[in-house]
Amino acid sequence: MANLSRSIKADKYTQFVSHGFGKDLAKNLGLPQPAVLRRFDPAQPLISGPVLVLGSTEGAEQLASALLDWKLDVRRVATPKQKLGAIILVLDELADPTELSEPLRTAGSSLRDLSSNGRVVTVSRPAAADQEPAVAAARHGVDGILRSLAKELRAGATGNGIVLAEGVSTTAPSALGALRFFLSGRSAFVDGQFLTVTSEGGAQPADWAHPLAGKVAVVTGAARGIGAAIARTLARDGAQLIVVDVPQAGDHLAGVANEVHGTALQLDITREDAGERILAHAEERYGKLDIVVHNAGITRDKLLANMDQGRWDSVIAVNIAAQLRINQALLASKVFLGERPHIVSVASTSGIAGNRGQTNYAASKAGVIGMVRSSARLLAEHGGTINAVAPGFIETDMTAKIPFATREVARRLNSLLQGGRPEDVAETIAFLASEAAGGITGNVLRVCGQNMVGQ
Ligand code: NAI
Repeated sequence: MANLSRSIKADKYTQFVSHGFGKDLAKNLGLPQPAVLRRFDPAQPLISGPVLVLGSTEGAEQLASALLDWKLDVRRVATPKQKLGAIILVLDELADPTELSEPLRTAGSSLRDLSSNGRVVTVSRPAAADQEPAVAAARHGVDGILRSLAKELRAGATGNGIVLAEGVSTTAPSALGALRFFLSGRSAFVDGQFLTVTSEGGAQPADWAHPLAGKVAVVTGAARGIGAAIARTLARDGAQLIVVDVPQAGDHLAGVANEVHGTALQLDITREDAGERILAHAEERYGKLDIVVHNAGITRDKLLANMDQGRWDSVIAVNIAAQLRINQALLASKVFLGERPHIVSVASTSGIAGNRGQTNYAASKAGVIGMVRSSARLLAEHGGTINAVAPGFIETDMTAKIPFATREVARRLNSLLQGGRPEDVAETIAFLASEAAGGITGNVLRVCGQNMVGQ
């Protein structure tokens, strides 16, 4: 499906400062120097350069061995001055904060050798209220380390963490799935974030190039923007697509449906029977439904002092009430509950950090996060998962309308010094919808380049 892979261009400023005169000028003037990010290309290797696995535990040893199956050049000791593709820091048996010193200084001494667009990934355990204070302090210390380290990395390199629930091994299918996601170009705009692996998860896919082969997926709000990118990415990964949008967007929706060789369903998701309509379409055309991506969303910004009922109610209706109603229908239907169902919902960093003029929108997007956390147990009963993705500043028609100066500031306010692409959100959703993420549920993963707002 060559026509599905869009060429992804960096914004004009990033292109200008990436080489030659522009690069020198930015360096001399101390201007931000965003890197051109390495995006996922199924034809390219997972990561180029050796992968250094640090850590002295059994979990570290097992993980290093498991990575050999991916034909990676795995090292347990660094060779000074030799470029590294990634550093994986396994900290799965911490009992006291003093134990952090040695592995972190070892990692630190290799950071200068990390390649452009390289990766640092920590693997650790969750801190919990019922642990010894020293254990919880050590484990939660990793949170501070990773978030700071991600801010120190340059040249498109990112730092992210995997938190393994008690009893989940470092080589569990979903631990490896999360690691592969973080190492690959799929996570280009994910930085300074953690994914919690709650259970071992399903098998790794037989074909990493088509991890969604045989799956049927619905994407709402797919006529344009992030939704259209999600549809293209899921199709590239092998899924059959049902694309949903309002009748007014019918022409664009038909265009996307043709492009992904899927079917279009013109539907306002706020209709009482939206869930039933989606299920009926899926059953009739494909006989089942495996993946639902709640992407459709609207903004109707106003300061709360000026907010009218129409703005408030419409945002709540589309962004959260419709999702709740559709999920109820899904969870009552054999069409969806046949085999390991996955729901991924699009939240927003506004729902985490808040945003002036967006009390209605933030209520709806924080609502999505609440819904996802509470629904995890309902999906678990059927071997399924539900997660949210919270995009930061993404280059879309919506953000192109922001006045130039505000937009320029907004897109640089993150560790990668640039806006993300709709494809970055789509890649993250495709991963969370895959079997490799079968042990990951109730998570909220930000796709924001480590935006300075919120956590
Ligand atoms: P967009 O406005 O370009 O696309 C949204 C699509 O949803 C449109 O095609 C629209 O027709 C459809 N839609 C709206 N109401 C609908 C309804 N009642 N029924 C069916 N379809 C409906 O928006 P964009 O930028 O692609 O955003 C997609 C999602 O990402 C939204 O949930 C948005 O809140 C979220 N988001 C976007 C960010 C950005 O920077 N663009 C940042 C954070 C979150």
